Amino acid sequence: MKKILITGGAGFIGSHVVRRFVTYHPEYHIYNLDALTYAGNLENLRDIENAPNYTFVKGDIVDAEFIDKLISENDFHGIIHLAAESHVDRSITDPMSFVMTNVVGTVNLLNAARKTWKDNFAGRRFYHVSTDEVYGELHDPGTFFTEETSYDPRSPYSASKASSDHFVRAYENTYKLPVVISNCSNNYGPNHFPEKLIPLMIHNIIQSKPLPVYGKGENVRDWLFVEDHAIAIDVIFHDGKNGETYNIGGHNEWKNLDLVLVLCRLMDKKLGRADGETEKLITYVTDRAGHDLRYAIDATKLSEELGWKPSLQFEEGLERTVDWYLANGEWLENVTSGNYQKYYSDMY
Ligand code: NAD
Ligand code: DAU
Repeated sequence: MKKILITGGAGFIGSHVVRRFVTYHPEYHIYNLDALTYAGNLENLRDIENAPNYTFVKGDIVDAEFIDKLISENDFHGIIHLAAESHVDRSITDPMSFVMTNVVGTVNLLNAARKTWKDNFAGRRFYHVSTDEVYGELHDPGTFFTEETSYDPRSPYSASKASSDHFVRAYENTYKLPVVISNCSNNYGPNHFPEKLIPLMIHNIIQSKPLPVYGKGENVRDWLFVEDHAIAIDVIFHDGKNGETYNIGGHNEWKNLDLVLVLCRLMDKKLGRADGETEKLITYVTDRAGHDLRYAIDATKLSEELGWKPSLQFEEGLERTVDWYLANGEWLENVTSGNYQKYYSDMY
């Protein structure tokens, strides 16, 4: 059985990728490597934790010795690397942890793969999961990020992801490491940590707390349902070409304020509140420092070359997401109260 290492598999996107690979690829044994930071939550994987082709490994990608040992002792056919510090606001207050995990951690994985695979690159692949934020911000409507757009990272988070992308490409050029990169737009869906816009709003709406909209709410993001991202990663891992970059996006742009208003109306219905009641909670707060105005992805290459397209309409994806949070109050409560971290310290 081929072994595949997925890093960051206890996080939001990683848990959907792990579930997809464990479920749809019984020909692989999936190793989920995760440090279980505040963003890692093994409850995300309860349904598959006993699958015969799944193993969880607790560890930190910043620990070069540990990573070297793990990769040299296991004959991994592929590494799908998602582990990262992922929240832009946290990168503004603590940039160094983003340098350590996103840059140093990625280089540790690249080094270990290069050393272990050096005599046998055939059939192997190092897949780096990255973000559209490396391209900077867009201003004009109708313009999109393509795979040829120059890098222009503008936050400590995007600078760290851009740096890791550059290291991945440098390892391909210098050592011929077989690599592939994808750059995706904003994901949403079940298990999204409630520090990010959509789950934070859902959480605050349920609790009737203020809904903090940064600035005037005019910034634009392109939203993709997380399971569609996981499918894209599956397709690119199997059918993408080495050395290539694939942009992934939902062709689904929303101004933040419009998105929050749609959520408020949906939640009015779900919670049996009067129409317009929830939107009274909207509160305009100080803007994020260096807040990128607009991101929008052109995913033509991925759809034309590999046949991927988003499967869900946004309205359906958003309703599924809201329903998931309403049905999983305990998950939300544990995450916001920090109880789940106690669960890990007892378990591991
Ligand atoms: P997340 O913050 O929800 O999860 C990150 C996971 O990585 C957590 O499980 C955490 O415990 C783990 N991790 C963090 N530091 C680690 C370390 N030093 N060693 C081992 N594990 C560590 O992130 P996410 O939103 O699921 O994003 C996953 C990846 O996808 C990231 O690389 C991110 O840059 C990228 N991405 C995210 C989005 C998005 O909208 N969320 C969009 C495009 C790309
Ligand atoms: O574009 C892909 C990126 O999307 C990923 O690489 C990042 O990991 C992911 O966190 C996300 O980054 P954003 O900064 O776009 O996501 P966030 O959910 O933090 O914010 C979305 C927008 O909403 C952004 O314009 C800031 C705004 N916002 C966010 C929060 C948390 C608010 O107005 N209020 C809030 O409380």
